[in-house]
Amino acid sequence: MRVDVIVSPAFLEGGELEGSLCAVVDVLRATSTITTALTSGAAAVYPCLDVEEAKRGAAAFGRERSLLGGEERGQLIPGFDLGNSPLEYLDADVVDGKAIYFYTTNGTGAVRRAYAECDRSVYIAALINMSAVSSAIVGAASDGKAAGIVILCSGRYGKPSAEDTFCSGLMVRMAVNGLREFGIPPDLTDSAMVAAGFAEANEGKGLDILASSEHGRFLQSLGFTPDLDFASRLDSYNAVPVFNGERIVLLNGDS
Ligand code: MLT
Repeated sequence: MRVDVIVSPAFLEGGELEGSLCAVVDVLRATSTITTALTSGAAAVYPCLDVEEAKRGAAAFGRERSLLGGEERGQLIPGFDLGNSPLEYLDADVVDGKAIYFYTTNGTGAVRRAYAECDRSVYIAALINMSAVSSAIVGAASDGKAAGIVILCSGRYGKPSAEDTFCSGLMVRMAVNGLREFGIPPDLTDSAMVAAGFAEANEGKGLDILASSEHGRFLQSLGFTPDLDFASRLDSYNAVPVFNGERIVLLNGDS
């Protein structure tokens, strides 16, 4: 089975995701924050394409039952309740039972694009839940019917990012082992091989990768250094968020 990594949505060509199982990665910070929000008890996360869509969605849902979350240029958006720091979503008193209308610069668009391209549920992955998502994808692939497994990195402004490539490489390695256990030979694209090699070369250095990446340095300059530590912790959560074309909910998981 084909295992592919697409390092940024800008590298997506039409039809590439058709029939495949797809996971979207935005380690810094959208998919880390979505995973945290849901494991803290949020009812659902609605990934939006822009600020106005998020505001309209929250207003229509009812502001007493919803939260507006996300960022522009890394910062809290005026009129929003929460930014895009996963640490803000740890407090169950804040997020429990809430529908979160969520907009971020690269991540939410990548989630929506992935669903539009593959027309089936999309997995949401970060370092904090990468084993759970990898296992879920391999389980879904075990009947051999999917065209392949594709990990779509959100990247940064159309370019690859080190932290997403690192996470996707770890997931490729898990997918390879998992597929073999089911007797399905993995067929890696060059991009998947490069990502897996990058992950292997940097084994155990997740925080260093995040801290030295372009976006990691940008976030540190804004004072979000604790987010990097949080987002670098491998498998803090056994949670599998899934986007069904409308909203992201947990397939299973714990907090
Ligand atoms: C994004 O979607 O571009 C990010 O999650 C940016 C951020 O770190 O807030």
